[in-house]
Amino acid sequence: MFRGLSGKRPVTEAQIKMQDGLIYWHSGEHCCNPRWENAYQGFEQPVEEKRKFRERFFRMGFDSLERSLNIVDLFCGRGNGLAVLQEMGFQNLSGVDLSPALLAKAPDRARRIVADCRDLRFEPQSVDVFVVQGGLHHLPELPTNLSLVLDQVAQSLVPGGLFCAVEPWDTPFLRAVHAVSFWKPARRLLPKFDAFATMVEEERDTYYSWLSSGSLIRAEVAKRFDVTLEQVAWGKWMFVGSKSIPRQ
Ligand SMILES: C[S@@+](CC[C@H](N)C(=O)[O-])C[C@H]1O[C@@H](n2cnc3c(N)ncnc32)[C@H](O)[C@@H]1O
Repeated sequence: MFRGLSGKRPVTEAQIKMQDGLIYWHSGEHCCNPRWENAYQGFEQPVEEKRKFRERFFRMGFDSLERSLNIVDLFCGRGNGLAVLQEMGFQNLSGVDLSPALLAKAPDRARRIVADCRDLRFEPQSVDVFVVQGGLHHLPELPTNLSLVLDQVAQSLVPGGLFCAVEPWDTPFLRAVHAVSFWKPARRLLPKFDAFATMVEEERDTYYSWLSSGSLIRAEVAKRFDVTLEQVAWGKWMFVGSKSIPRQ
């Protein structure tokens, strides 16, 4: 079992500029598109979303991790992933998102950091585990932005630290979901399909760019992390890897 090494504080006092319980590394003011945020919040009720996250954390092996590990949830949105980790007993949690409005809903026992994930300021080798779920596909420029995020993740991780990701993936199932969701009668009848289609409309450029870049994404990840789990199913890619230790 990976036990972590850090004991180091991932965020120093000098980096903490607090307002209303949030730490600001970025103003966050231009990040939020209200139509997308409304759709995201209507897509799944918090109870459903937490059930999904709990099942994913279990599949990624979080139940066997030390509860004292330093875990950072990137692109954490309204923080239901953090809430589940907290319920599982993890005590040292941080969430990063560009949207102060969403972050304000995340559990306040976690450090809640308003930041652009392309400009992270964690101390080197201070984080045991990074998680990202449904965030990387918002990056506007591939592969440069992905490379930026992954470099910073790798620098902030302790040796052997874990990088865990769940992102949309181009599969026949996802194509079928797109076809149904964009069908007008389905959108009118089922709010979930409408919310999904609205999110895709609002993030169209980055979403489709992500979906068409599978091999490039895998190559960027493989440069920095040794894979321990990789699965593609039901329109999702799940990855768990540990920080590669350079050979002497
Ligand atoms: C689809 S949501 C996912 C939220 C959460 N991980 C979940 O699964 O519910 C994507 C989130 O990424 C945030 N985001 C987009 N670009 C970002 C960036 N460059 N840095 C930080 N957060 C960003 C958005 O504000 C949004 O909350």
